Amino acid sequence: MKRLVVVSNRVAVPDDSKVRAGGLAVALEEALQQAGGVWFGWSGRIAPQTADSLALIEQGQVTYATVNLSRRDHAEYYNGFANRTLWPIFHYRIDLTDFNRQNYAGYLRVNTLFAEKLLPLLRDEDDIWVHDYHLIPLGEELRRRGVRQRIGFFLHTPFPAMEILLVLPSHERIVRSLCAYDVVGFQTRNDLRAFHDYITVEAGGEVLSNGLVHAFGRTLRAEVFPIGVDVEPLQRAARASVRLQTYRRLRENFGGKCLMIGVDRLDYSKGLRERMHAFGRLLDRYPGYRRRICFMQIAPPSRSDVPEYLQIRRELETEAGHINGTFAEFDWIPIHYLNSSFQRATLAGFYRYSKVGVVTPLRDGMNLVAKEYVATQDPAEPGALVLSRFAGAARELDAALLVNPYDIDGMAETMARAIEMPVAERKERWEDMMAKIRASSIDVWRENFLHALREAPFSTEAA
Ligand code: UDP
Ligand code: G6P
Repeated sequence: MKRLVVVSNRVAVPDDSKVRAGGLAVALEEALQQAGGVWFGWSGRIAPQTADSLALIEQGQVTYATVNLSRRDHAEYYNGFANRTLWPIFHYRIDLTDFNRQNYAGYLRVNTLFAEKLLPLLRDEDDIWVHDYHLIPLGEELRRRGVRQRIGFFLHTPFPAMEILLVLPSHERIVRSLCAYDVVGFQTRNDLRAFHDYITVEAGGEVLSNGLVHAFGRTLRAEVFPIGVDVEPLQRAARASVRLQTYRRLRENFGGKCLMIGVDRLDYSKGLRERMHAFGRLLDRYPGYRRRICFMQIAPPSRSDVPEYLQIRRELETEAGHINGTFAEFDWIPIHYLNSSFQRATLAGFYRYSKVGVVTPLRDGMNLVAKEYVATQDPAEPGALVLSRFAGAARELDAALLVNPYDIDGMAETMARAIEMPVAERKERWEDMMAKIRASSIDVWRENFLHALREAPFSTEAA
């Protein structure tokens, strides 16, 4: 029988009690629970490599296979090249990008390690699906070891415009590695267009018909597969959440106030500083909202060893403190800023209770929180979504109130518009967004990608 082998840096290992904040793990967990198969990646632990350091856990239809990373690998591959080079470049932050050859060598070394550890687990009939910027060279490494199965790759982040990517000294090697896959999937047309641009202008390749691309001596399929959410379970969780103690406590605390909510990993790409500025501007420009509204920002810390993440954390503490110091009264606090993570069932209730969802990244591959906020609303009285035009989700959710997160006055005005939006308009916009969320659910995403992989031009040659 055909098996699905999913490979990603982050694996949601079932007995790991930590709440998993991050769209990739959430989406893959849902996709693999449906399809069954193997999920291979990093255990999340830092420990010396040993010859037998592959842990296998069987649960239901899924086998979780994980490896540890040595301290050096973690520093050079994960904190270094993946999160200080590729992540900022892919999110258009040249100013925050750090490139050094040692980290790049570490990145290639861990990709080689993953290929070696994965190889003995593979069967002839497997479909192999590699995920995200940490593992771009993995397909090529597997091919080098004689793997003949179809191998697909999905990029969860944006793919940057060519002029941005050219800043990366190893851009050619990175794109060449992408072309070793049989199918490469992107979140939006924008990302695909940027990839096509690089292929035709920089790599001297060709974009053929039917999504085929010819470059670096290979033909592959490059397409858009917008990632989605599992709609019905989210709706059930939202309906059930009213019985949760957390929901009751939220209602008691914010009763009678209009609650605005943001939920993001604490990442500079999420536009949290600009969002807080805009909220401060709202209170400044429209004093009538003081005491009537509250903003709750949930921001679990992420990649805390990376200096740029420590910096944004400090800045947000200062900004939240400044706004509260300026506007708070003895019985009203405007910003509730939390550095903790929550179970998704709890979040479902928080979203449903909040009249406004604020999702304003400076750049985001998709942003599942935007889709989760919409999916968890009460159809009789849905909240309004304020959404950055630079989130991949804005391509589908164009019935949200779209904002430019760099325009602080514009965001403040749009927040006011969301607070005031009549229920009939909220319903109309919500229905439009729900139709799109249903049409590109997590099942549709998985099935479309795997269908494309199975139909892809079959590569029998090893690289
Ligand atoms: N999330 C969570 N608990 C939290 C914060 C976030 O479970 O405390 C989940 C959230 O529900 C969503 C994912 O983490 O499914 C974040 O995905 P998104 O695409 O919005 O952003 P990413 O973190 O992948 O950049
Ligand atoms: C984004 C990335 C994922 C990553 C997640 C959480 O969604 O696209 O690859 O897993 O953030 O980040 P972390 O570094 O904790 O895995």
